[in-house]
Amino acid sequence: MKIIKYLRLPALLVVAFMINVFAVQNDLLVDPPKDKTIEQKIDSVLARMTLEEKIGQLTLFTSDWDVTGPTVRENYKADIKAGKVGAIFNAHTAAFNRELQRIAVEETRLGIPLLFGYDVIHGYKTIFPIPLGEAASWDLEAIEKSSRVAAVEASAAGLHWTYAPMVDIARDPRWGRICEGAGEDTYLGSVIAAARVKGFQGKDLAADNTLAACVKHYAAYGAAQAGRDYHTVDMSERVLREVYLPPFKAAKDAGVRTFMTSFNELDGVPATANGLLLTDILRKEWGFNGFVVTDYTSINEMVDHGSAANEKDAGEQAINAGVDMDMQGAVFYNYLAQSVKEGKVNVKTIDEAVRRILRIKFELGLFDDPYRYSDVERERRLVMSPEHQEIARDVSRKSIVLLKNERQALPLNKTIGTLAVVGPLADNKSELIGSWSAAGDYTKSVSLLEGIRAKIGPGTSLLHVKGCEVEGADKSGFEAALVAAAKADAVVLAIGEKAQMSGEAASRAFIDLPGVQQDLVKALAATGKPLIVVLMNGRPLAVPEVHDKASAILETWFLGTQAGHAIADVLFGDYNPSGKLPVTFPRNLGQVPIFYNMKNTGRPMDPNDKYTSKYLDSPNTPLYPFGYGLSYTTFKYGVPVLSKNSFKASEQITVTVPVTNTGTRGGEEVVQLYVRDLVGSVTRPVKELVDFRKVMLKAGEKKEVVFKLSADQLKFYDRQLKWVAEPGEFDVMVGGNSAEVQSVRITLK
Ligand code: NOJ
Repeated sequence: MKIIKYLRLPALLVVAFMINVFAVQNDLLVDPPKDKTIEQKIDSVLARMTLEEKIGQLTLFTSDWDVTGPTVRENYKADIKAGKVGAIFNAHTAAFNRELQRIAVEETRLGIPLLFGYDVIHGYKTIFPIPLGEAASWDLEAIEKSSRVAAVEASAAGLHWTYAPMVDIARDPRWGRICEGAGEDTYLGSVIAAARVKGFQGKDLAADNTLAACVKHYAAYGAAQAGRDYHTVDMSERVLREVYLPPFKAAKDAGVRTFMTSFNELDGVPATANGLLLTDILRKEWGFNGFVVTDYTSINEMVDHGSAANEKDAGEQAINAGVDMDMQGAVFYNYLAQSVKEGKVNVKTIDEAVRRILRIKFELGLFDDPYRYSDVERERRLVMSPEHQEIARDVSRKSIVLLKNERQALPLNKTIGTLAVVGPLADNKSELIGSWSAAGDYTKSVSLLEGIRAKIGPGTSLLHVKGCEVEGADKSGFEAALVAAAKADAVVLAIGEKAQMSGEAASRAFIDLPGVQQDLVKALAATGKPLIVVLMNGRPLAVPEVHDKASAILETWFLGTQAGHAIADVLFGDYNPSGKLPVTFPRNLGQVPIFYNMKNTGRPMDPNDKYTSKYLDSPNTPLYPFGYGLSYTTFKYGVPVLSKNSFKASEQITVTVPVTNTGTRGGEEVVQLYVRDLVGSVTRPVKELVDFRKVMLKAGEKKEVVFKLSADQLKFYDRQLKWVAEPGEFDVMVGGNSAEVQSVRITLK
């Protein structure tokens, strides 16, 4: 391999440069760099760079391999050769990326290696459940493991950097991107964010099987008005800090190395030029010393937002607010040199951005070996390995939520006799891998029909009929479905959404089942045969009629490559479902936004009083609350016991809750701990999740689940936006979902 050219710098120049650079850093009050030798190496590179080469490092272009946005630059290879681009996304496979890297390392003046990014959101080629689904596992170990596998595969296939985790709190099911995050809750979202970062980045970023993670979309993107993608966001700083920012902070604390800005504006300022977010909070308060990339052309889009006169102005606003890298918009590429000449952007600002980007390249070990992540042999051996399939199957079944199980319709007997497998998604592979499925090859995914076929005993016969499509008005397939149902002992009906009905630019104005699927549910239910509905979807759906008609319902999201096996494991009782909803399922769209930790209002709902907070035509309660999910066994909760009823801020108390498996089979339960601050200097939600434990209980077994509780978990932003726990009374609630809890009162002195 070629020796990298920058290391030949005279020592004196290095020292002189370091003084300058450290002065800039002190101004920014960021975390001190972990590795001083890296900083020295960055100095020596920086000192040799022309302004154009520096701007090149701030430029990220897509390759023509994959498309995740509106424009593809055709001349990106020429740009690499000219040193005008420092990072490439949507390029993958070891061989393809090795060749691009060769151009950068061998054919540019300084030989600075490229950074390769990609949306490895829920797996590279072995696809795991969509993140919302995986969050339903409430299993942090499993979630970390799936990100680990994603990183192992992606890093063998030439990638260094993933645009994940997406940690946007989302409370509007119309918003298609709700499928990419961990749901509605800040605490759950935060611990999952940390688990995902740890999984992607591992313990050593320089290892050949780790990726730099990129937490996104910073910030508040999930609060787009009316759930319409890219729409305006407006919220108080209190809500921003309390609800939307903590998962980002958790990712930062877990060591995430990059942040991505969001498309939305916030309080009138696009996030991509938002100094409060990018400098005041991220750098100064949190001390983040990695780099910030824009989301796609979000700099250019500031012109349409109406906050920049033209692209050059937008670029100046973005870099001065704290953006380091311009994704795909070519604004830095086209205008930044001019902005420097005009004195609109200080070259020190550019140096600092370059420094942050080079830091990550050094941390990844790219300067030691630019090809270490492009290993054809490793790629062949690891990508889609049998071990990864096993892990995916396990995470997938943990993500399934049993929403209804009347008269123990589930699990099915493997020797049931005749089983009708119906529905547009029963024999489908292409939708199972969901949106943002990276290099996922849907032809390799296991359909539900295949999963069932592999599971049933020899004497069981299967009848398969599609019945209808996901969309459209055609009911001509109903008759065959009804004939099959009439012959069968039970019906499994796979319905829901197509993968591309959620994800980016995929908001829906209606959140019920598309097409005639609901009519098919009704028709099949009328046969009187046990009807098992398997839902596949990327958002909470409003399906009250399905709830009424079906004997059992499994929420299976889009489970990825191993979907069919995982669902069959649950259908036939080889795995006892343990998932819990990470997001509320409304009864109807009119209830949206609906989430468990709402405020009480001054007129809380009273069915006997007209003048209270409610609807004339719908209950306030959701179809399925946050944290809800059934099991094939039953769990009984005892009254929580406190180590002390009243405690000081310096103390910690314990909350002990006895949980008993009262059924006949072993199962896992997610025991959830909520608190409510009864009187605050600002109003507090009726309930907030502060901890949970997933416990395995054998049939008949009883365990005492012990939570520690301290004043830290009772904190919120007071009227002065100070993060405080106020003395007073709190309800401490424990239960198996947010709506069914047992409560005890404590006092913080
Ligand atoms: C736009 C999306 O909003 C973002 O999530 C993604 O990482 C980029 N495109 C790159 O594909």
